[in-house]
This record gives sequence, C-alpha cells and structure tokens, in this order.
Amino acid sequence: MEAHGRPAADVLAEIDRRQALEPDVHGARLFGLVYPSGDHALEELVTAVNNRYLFGNALNPFKFSELAAMEQDVVAITGSLVHLPEGGGGSLTSGGTESILMSMLVNRERARERGVEVPQILAPESAHPAYAKAAHYFGMEVVRIPLDAHWRADVDAARSLVSERTAVIVASAFNYPHGVMDPVVDLAAFAAEHGAGCHVDACIGGFVLPFLERCGRDVPPWDFRVPGVTEISADVHKYGYAPKGASVVLHRDSDWFLRQVFMYEQWGSGLYGSPGVAGARPAAPIATAWAVLQHLGVDGYVRIMRGLLDTVDQVRGAIDALAGVEIVGDPIGPVMAMRSDTLDLYAVGDVMDDRGWHLNRNTDPRGLHLMLSPAHANVRDELVADLRDAVANHGESRGKQARYS
Ligand SMILES: Cc1ncc(COP(=O)(O)O)c(C=O)c1O
Repeated sequence: MEAHGRPAADVLAEIDRRQALEPDVHGARLFGLVYPSGDHALEELVTAVNNRYLFGNALNPFKFSELAAMEQDVVAITGSLVHLPEGGGGSLTSGGTESILMSMLVNRERARERGVEVPQILAPESAHPAYAKAAHYFGMEVVRIPLDAHWRADVDAARSLVSERTAVIVASAFNYPHGVMDPVVDLAAFAAEHGAGCHVDACIGGFVLPFLERCGRDVPPWDFRVPGVTEISADVHKYGYAPKGASVVLHRDSDWFLRQVFMYEQWGSGLYGSPGVAGARPAAPIATAWAVLQHLGVDGYVRIMRGLLDTVDQVRGAIDALAGVEIVGDPIGPVMAMRSDTLDLYAVGDVMDDRGWHLNRNTDPRGLHLMLSPAHANVRDELVADLRDAVANHGESRGKQARYS
C-alpha cells in the first residue's frame, strides 16, 4: 500500500489506462462473458441505480427492508416467467454457480434424509462445471450422463446410471457448450419415478426461453409446468441484461427453500440467517436487477429478443452455408457451436483473434463457440464476413487451448 495515498485523479487515470487494455464490454467483440443489450437508456438507468446502492449491504433484510422487498420482487417476477407454482420459493444469488450450489445443497439434504451418505448428482456431460464444484464442496459425487447423437443428455444412458444414491438429475435448458436443450420432460419424469430431484439449469435459458416462446418459436416444455422439475436456476445477469451478481434459484416447494437458509445463534450477537454462500451481500446487483426488470417489462424483453433472433438467424444461416463447417446439434437460441471434419477451426479462431474477435474454443467436439448478444446486431455483417474469410484463408493452428476461465 502507498504510504501517503494517491490523488483521486491519479488513481482514476490509472484505472482508465488499465481498462483501455481490457476487452471493450460494449464493443460486441466478446462472446459469453458479457451480455450487452445495446440499449443505452437501459445502461444509463443501471448505472444510476448502481450508484445509489453501491455502498448498501443486503445481509440484514430488517435494516435494508426496501432492498429485501426488491429481492422478493425479482424472485417473484422470475418465478412467474418460469411458472413457479403457488407455494414455491427461492432467492437471489450472486450468479449461476451460487444458484446451482444452493440447489445441490438442498438436494443433498433431501437425499441424506432418506439415508444416502454420499449423494450423487446425475448430470449430462455438457452440464456446467458448477455441478462438479457443488459435489466438491458438499461431499457429493457427479455421475456423467453421456450425450446422444444430437448432443442432448441420453435418457436411456441415464436410466442405466441411476441408483439409490441419485439425489438429483440435471437437465440444461439450454447448455453452454452447444446451446442445446436436454430432454427435460423425460429426465424429470424419470427423476420423480426414482424419488430424486430434477434441477433445470436455465442459467442462460431462463431469460431467453420465455421470450422465444412469446416470439412464436417452438420451445419444448422445460420449466415448472413439467411435472418432476424441483429446482430451476435462471440468471438475470446473463440474458436478463442486469450487471453481474444476480441469479435466481427457485424451488417448487418453499420448505425446500428454507433448507437453503443457514441459521445460527451460538455466538454473542444474536440470530444470524443467510440464504446463500456470502455473508455481507452487495446491494447494487439486487437494485439493478430489479430496475432492469421493471424498466423492460415483458414487452421490452420481447422487443430485444426479436432483434436478437434476427441476428441469430442470419449468423446461423451464414455458418450453415460455410463449406466444411457444421453447427453442433440443434441449438435453440443465441448459443451455438461449430465443428468440422475437414478444417482446423482452432486455426480459423486464430484468424478471428487477429481481427479482434474473442471467439471461445470448444473441445468436444473440437471447434468454435458463439454466444450472441443483442449488441452483435451492430457487427453482424462484419462478423460473418470475417468468419467466411477466416474459413477460406487460415494457416496452421497456433495451438491456443480452449479456456473458459
Ligand atoms: C448453462 C450455465 N449454467 C451455469 C452457469 C454459471 O453461471 P455463473 O458464471 O453466473 O456462475 C453458466 C455460465 O456461463 C452457464 O452457461
């Protein structure tokens, strides 16, 4: 630490210098890490709300009661989008990973109640690493469900893997690696038959699928309308367009939500209750998530989705037309992967890197990953032209590895 501190202007100048070296979060050349809405008025609102709540703390709902009410609104609004039945419950968390952790904890507790010491999470091979993280934290095991020819969880394989120890079966709606929906109806029915929970990972899809449906697209059943679905995670900080730090975990039965809450009194300062991993919780992500939902409303999300779908359809069409390149499976929305039997797509990725695009690499199948946001509408033609050119003119791969984080 500096002995005498530094003038604010000096600190800010260094922040500006450092930020200039980072990828531009508004530039629409990043894929996946940020979700630019392209809506300037929305971003201004978020910045103003963020400033007002920057120094709050959501730990104590009795002190920050308006914040607690906003949190409940966000949970209720998200619940209504995914048809959470009366009697359900949930909370806001810091992100998809924490939502998944909390759900796995509750599923572990349910399994332990029926005498299972090391409960298992049956999760598709394409499921997010957060399930393995939950198993690592909570003394559980992950059993991986192989994928079928369409890159969806293979239901027959899941049947052969289920056991007395299965606490929960996971279905992604939709998954990160390929943007493909798992067969939620079959997996949830199967979970219910075995007395296991069924967690639908809608961290990406939670704020996509309800609006795809309203845009008239075919969306297979995936939410609480499907019998057997016990938990859903949905991230407001992805396609909900709120800044980072906001996801919702929902339980079909609010008694299960109560098992998520940690209560403690054996210290000198009274009852301590906390619904998630963090103790002190930043207030701004709650207030900004609330503000975004209030401002956009259903119409706003549908409007944004129409524009996004237009970009998705154009880009997907252009990829389909690339000789030797194939889309993996049948992605339902803005996330898709490319593979090839004849081209080294990592080498294509190198050319795209050189042109300032931050396309992620996939390992299974080896190829490139694309996660489109509304702001990509502004660069769509350039993206497609560069991709076409990179496919036609690339050298050997420089050996850059797939790294998600
Ligand atoms: C399908 C899916 N689930 C869960 C997560 C975890 O979300 P977070 O990074 O907000 O913890 C992600 C992140 O990309 C995801 O794509």
